Amino acid sequence: MMTTILLTGAAGYIASHTWLALQRAGYRVVGVDNFVNSSPRVLERLAELATAPIEFERGDVCDAVQMDEVFDRYRPAAVVHFAAYKAVGESVSKPLAYYRNNLGGLVNTCEAMQRHGCSRIVFSSSATVYGAPESLPLREDAPTSATNPYGATKLMGEQILRDLGVADSTWQTACLRYFNPVGAHESGRIGEDPRGTPNNLMPYVAQVAVGRRDKLAVFGNDYDTPDGTGVRDYIHVTDLAEGHVAALRRLLNHPGSLTVNLGTGQGYSVLDLVRAYEAASGRSVPYEIVARRAGDIAACWADPTMARELLGWEARLDLARMCEDSWRWQHTNPQGFD
Ligand code: WQD
Repeated sequence: MMTTILLTGAAGYIASHTWLALQRAGYRVVGVDNFVNSSPRVLERLAELATAPIEFERGDVCDAVQMDEVFDRYRPAAVVHFAAYKAVGESVSKPLAYYRNNLGGLVNTCEAMQRHGCSRIVFSSSATVYGAPESLPLREDAPTSATNPYGATKLMGEQILRDLGVADSTWQTACLRYFNPVGAHESGRIGEDPRGTPNNLMPYVAQVAVGRRDKLAVFGNDYDTPDGTGVRDYIHVTDLAEGHVAALRRLLNHPGSLTVNLGTGQGYSVLDLVRAYEAASGRSVPYEIVARRAGDIAACWADPTMARELLGWEARLDLARMCEDSWRWQHTNPQGFD
């Protein structure tokens, strides 16, 4: 009997890649999404790539009735909770929407799990919970703070799950703190498809390389970093997906809960990434140095030790491969999924 895993936000960027990885690992996967921030076309592409049937229910994690129907129908042994809004800037202008969707959705999902005797959850958290790092690399015991409502929903989400585990020891939770997810499936058939103007660096660079945008605005080159531009720990979405498989395997085979970084431990600057993308695509990525973006930090990269020790997982794919796979997705799908 295959173990059934429910993915919320299943048509999203990281979830869709995790779906394929979980199937390859031998799990039966069921996806739920309301398509508020993703395209139904993702499901068609997944069906091309999947090693098992794509089982999907359209639904909102904030809707208790819809979630009960899914649990009744599929009886998942665990949940990977991706469903959340994730634009930092938008969260500042629409805090209530972020608290309702990200925290309301998590609480509603956990209540549905409780009603259906499911007590294992992998939670999509973020390195943003570390705020402005006091020292690098970042270990899981580093101080945390929220610098925007989006980050607050990730920090509060982790707290909700910790409190749940204290109240009921049958709960097992894995909070995965993503650093900077980039890249795309090696097939080029699924990848990151932000709506409107990309907030994040790699999708913006990709759109410049493919000709959808004229040039990249580099948000400041006066940081205390080797070339003055921001340094981040970019991690291939395929490595990130495998990190979820490892975390789930741990929850299903060991007692207890955990919080781990999912990063490579290697930082790259904005200009490092631009050069790597030009090499991977053979295209020029023109850029202009502009003012810093409010709220940005100079540098951030992970200490990946705990994930290696607890999950037996570490990132394998390098920056060149991140750019190559991103470029294959971008230039074969210049308008994304739609
Ligand atoms: C990376 C670097 C920018 C765009 C955010 C969220 C985090 C997570 C990942 C959800 C920085 C520079 C960017 C551009 C630029 N999201 N940049 N021009 O800010 O590290 O993290 O996305 O989980 O929670 O905070 O990622 O890709 O936006 O920026 O110069 O057009 O690229 O200043 O140095 P960030 P990013």
